[in-house]
Amino acid sequence: MSFIDELNRRKTFAIIAHPDAGKTTLTEKLLLFGGAIQTAGAVKSNKIKKATTSDFMEIEKQRGISVSTSVMAFDYKDFKVNILDTPGHEDFAEDTYRTLSAVDSVIMVIDCVKGVEPQTRKLLEVCRMRNTPVIVFVNKMDREGRNPFDLLDEIEKELKIRVRPLTWPIGIGKSFKGVYSLYEKSLNLFQGDSKTTVEETIEISDLNNGSLEKYISEDFSSQLRADVELIDGVYDDFDKKKYLQAEVSPVFFGSAVNNFGIKELLDCFVEIAPTPQGRDTDVAGEIKATDPKFSGFIFKIHANLDPKHRDRIAFLRVVSGKFERNTYYYNVREGKDMRFSNPTAFMAQQKSVIDESFPGDVIGLYDSGNFKIGDTLTEGAKFNFKGIPSFSPELFKYVTNLDPMKTKQLQKGLEQLTDEGVAQLFTKKTDGRKVLGTVGALQFEVIQHRLKSEYNASCGYDSISLYKALWIECDDKKKMDEFMLDKANHIAYDKENRPVFLAESAWLLQMAQEKFPEIKFHVKSEF
Ligand code: G4P
Repeated sequence: MSFIDELNRRKTFAIIAHPDAGKTTLTEKLLLFGGAIQTAGAVKSNKIKKATTSDFMEIEKQRGISVSTSVMAFDYKDFKVNILDTPGHEDFAEDTYRTLSAVDSVIMVIDCVKGVEPQTRKLLEVCRMRNTPVIVFVNKMDREGRNPFDLLDEIEKELKIRVRPLTWPIGIGKSFKGVYSLYEKSLNLFQGDSKTTVEETIEISDLNNGSLEKYISEDFSSQLRADVELIDGVYDDFDKKKYLQAEVSPVFFGSAVNNFGIKELLDCFVEIAPTPQGRDTDVAGEIKATDPKFSGFIFKIHANLDPKHRDRIAFLRVVSGKFERNTYYYNVREGKDMRFSNPTAFMAQQKSVIDESFPGDVIGLYDSGNFKIGDTLTEGAKFNFKGIPSFSPELFKYVTNLDPMKTKQLQKGLEQLTDEGVAQLFTKKTDGRKVLGTVGALQFEVIQHRLKSEYNASCGYDSISLYKALWIECDDKKKMDEFMLDKANHIAYDKENRPVFLAESAWLLQMAQEKFPEIKFHVKSEF
């Protein structure tokens, strides 16, 4: 198969959802369709159910599961589908954000009873920032949910996206009979009351020619005709180009646990979802996926669960060209060549060493501490992919060393764990104190626990009351120096040695902005 054929058959995406909407179930059903797994229950949920868990076993379990479900690839028809897993717990929002940098589209699952939920909103904002095409799957149609038109209105209003249904439910809850595919003009009905088996797909090219009544009652038939008429009146025809430009989101209805509406979703997904896309760089413009020279970036690093083995797996998204085993590639940040003798591909639950990989693929590279999140690998070209910035943390704590005999270990542990992206580390300008910043409270516990078990170091925390850490820049060096001097107590450096302003409150930030209008304050490290 040619390079272009390999590229065009790949579809790399993530399923995103508010916890409990059915992400794990849908993933599993897609894998079943792809023949990648044989039994239900093979995909473990990676969510931490308790909101404020301090149960380390839970955290460890999650880490164990999330390595095996980080990437789940399978073949379907002529396509290679790569599903990237995103953590369910909101404390891992940054992880999710980084994973979304490595996909070309997403499927968003919405629970038809609950509608749009807080995490749905946040995740969609991320997709909108990047113009990622979104397909919506309205799940749990076997439950007494809302009227589908009301749901679509809510999705449009709450998520500020335009939608276009491509399947339509016939009945809902107890009376849910099946779905009509507006895209394929076919009917899929449940068999009897079992709600688990699907009758054969029935093609109905014209809803008005009377054949519908052969399969569903008159009431359902006339309701479906009226609904379809309304859909055609209210929504524009589906336009694939607009979907690819993230201007409109096709919507599917179904029930993941009952395996219903999934095939329609998958069949349409492989047809319309984008092929691997290029990515923007700092100095070389956009690198297109079709560029024959290999390039890729690290979006996730996973430490070994066995503390005796300090190696880690760095997950690389291939952006362009062909990745080959045992070939030297250039790590742009480190300025050095690296070679990988056992790069790993993930097919469903199986890991295997691969010889080559194509754009859209995600491979695991064994790493002894060389990689940082965001690193770019090339055939020698010196550019960095953009799009994996750090965001201002929400929570902050001073790190204290509880075991002075283990200072080195603590230092190393903090460096490596923050390279993995578990938290961000800042060093204060005046006294050199270390400040950890995270999105959720859970990470502080994760760090403490992992420092102990993997590095044999003990860390404690002192409280520090901060509102945000903002990256600062100024065209005028004199003004910058003036600001740094005036605010010396509130300046720290991130791991890349970029200065940040530690604002204690929104009000103090505003005061600083007013006093130094030339300084630009950024909530993310990439600007
Ligand atoms: P998540 O990964 O998005 O957090 O959700 P997950 O798939 O774990 O699903 C959450 C719950 O919703 C599960 O029930 C799952 O069985 C159920 N579910 C998924 N799809 C459907 C559906 O189409 N209809 C109905 N009625 N339920 C659905 P649970 O009780 O939390 O877990 P389990 O014991 O069933 O696994």
